[in-house]
Amino acid sequence: MNSLFRRLNEKGGVAVAPSLLSADFSCLEREIRTVEDAGADFLHLDVMDGNFVPNITFGPMIVGAIAKIARIPLITHLMILHPDRYVEQFVKAGSSAVSFHWEAGKTASGNIIEKIRSLGCDAGLAINPDTPLSSVEHLLAEIDLLLVMTVFPGFGGQELISAAIDKIGEAARLKKEKGYRFVIEVDGGIKPQNAARAREQGAQILVAGTAVFKCSDYAGAVASIRG
Ligand code: DX5
Ligand code: ZN
Repeated sequence: MNSLFRRLNEKGGVAVAPSLLSADFSCLEREIRTVEDAGADFLHLDVMDGNFVPNITFGPMIVGAIAKIARIPLITHLMILHPDRYVEQFVKAGSSAVSFHWEAGKTASGNIIEKIRSLGCDAGLAINPDTPLSSVEHLLAEIDLLLVMTVFPGFGGQELISAAIDKIGEAARLKKEKGYRFVIEVDGGIKPQNAARAREQGAQILVAGTAVFKCSDYAGAVASIRG
């Protein structure tokens, strides 16, 4: 397991992962440097295929380019159909963790997790706001990261779906009870005003796109999301 995730489990606290989806791609290196200097712990990379979600972003080539520039680890969030066909490319591009959606992987999920981990990468499983935690309970012992979506994936800048936040608490309780190792990441609509709720439920990595990149003070935004 990635030592950064281990540190989060052992020492507690909260990490912030700005989502580059809301960054200015015409000056990506400067954007990355600015969030790193602002105290970001990870970069969250949103990969969309226009099939699993109604939007297209970028693929492994861009992830590889970002990996060359970034000084902090990359958590890649795959919102694509057939994740089994592509995970290897995203690992090799330089991701420290690769998450795929349960809704896209379903019966193949166990194998995909194994594949990611066998490549020396941390494996994450993402669940949509309307997917109950019970659907993935059988996989919780295997994963390094549980990505709880608080918006339906596809676009940045959406309003957080309040009901989805309760799944964080449910996952945190189960994790404690069974001694699972996964860290809990929350993604979608996180802002300084609602971050405390996610943290209180047990979120360990908070993703924020709009709240960081569409604000003039990146360091202030990162600090208040971290709490
Ligand atoms: C949604 C993406 C998120 C999102 C985060 O499909 O997975 O990472 O862009 O952006 P905000 O923080 O703007 O919701
Ligand atoms: Zn995301």
